[in-house]
Amino acid sequence: GMIRKPAAFISSISDERGQELLYAGMRISDVFKEEIGIGGVLSLLWFKRRLPDYACKFIEMVLQLTADHGPAVSGAMNTIITARAGKDLVSSLAAGLLTIGDRFGGALDGAAANFTSALNSGQTPREFVDSMRKANKLIPGIGHKVKSKTNPDLRVELVKDFVKSTFPATATLDYAIGVEAVTSAKKDSLILNVDGAIAAAFCDLLNCSGAFTQEEAAEYLKVGTLNGLFVLGRSIGFIGHFIDQKMLKQPLYRHPSDDFYISFADHSRVVVQPKK
Ligand code: ACO
Ligand code: LMR
Repeated sequence: GMIRKPAAFISSISDERGQELLYAGMRISDVFKEEIGIGGVLSLLWFKRRLPDYACKFIEMVLQLTADHGPAVSGAMNTIITARAGKDLVSSLAAGLLTIGDRFGGALDGAAANFTSALNSGQTPREFVDSMRKANKLIPGIGHKVKSKTNPDLRVELVKDFVKSTFPATATLDYAIGVEAVTSAKKDSLILNVDGAIAAAFCDLLNCSGAFTQEEAAEYLKVGTLNGLFVLGRSIGFIGHFIDQKMLKQPLYRHPSDDFYISFADHSRVVVQPKK
């Protein structure tokens, strides 16, 4: 019989070779016939399966409420400055995206990992907070520069309300809220932030929707899927900031020099070798 050439790549999310494009086996025409929306498409291309309606709605909610948070956050500023330096859309978007990480917007995977392991090990929220403090580690998903207990982040309230009223179980989100109760009692700004709330809720979705085995759920968290939600959502805003700056014909930006405190290291004690 025919001997198949060994493949150099293996891929399992989409196929364009046939008459019709397939997303995880679903025909593109059915994607529209069944009106699965962007949440349904993301479910197919990220998780290779259809997810329940509430899960697709939650994904769409996440993309909408992470889409932007004003021009002053680190990512938007990078995009704006890059656009004003005359660069193109992709460069300006990439400049913004590169700020996403442990401190800004990219705390989802860390939050999911920490809340999950703390919950599974039976630690109370207080024991978890104390153990992180002892290890001298910031809790991913906790804290905000401008939002606080007295100036709450409405996005987090929207997430909590939606998840509480639609998810079959909310153990991780409840745990994260328990952690917030401990941290915010210490300092008003140590609230459960959007990254933390979305991450905790997504753990509940992976674990309790019935769509994933325990191993699959753990693996999706381990490979770093959740930060993708913020990256994808915020790309909408970064592209918006790029278009805005170009439409407003904003010139090259130079930051005022008097806004820098310049301090050189003291080199007076450095021994300079005499020239031979
Ligand atoms: N866990 C424990 N303690 C914390 C945390 C945390 N996550 N965040 C701040 N603190 C403590 C600090 O140790 C510090 O304590 P000290 O006064 O005893 O020294 C105090 O709170 C203030 O810390 P700052 O770094 O000044 O807090 P800031 O308000 O500048 O930082 C930030 C806000 C960056 C969000 C911070 O809380 C943090 O890194 N959190 C974890 C990462 C995270 O979740 N990022 C996502 C934010 S949401 C988003 O970007 C969309
Ligand atoms: C955001 O969504 O960008 C933020 O929560 C971060 C911020 O400082 O506003």
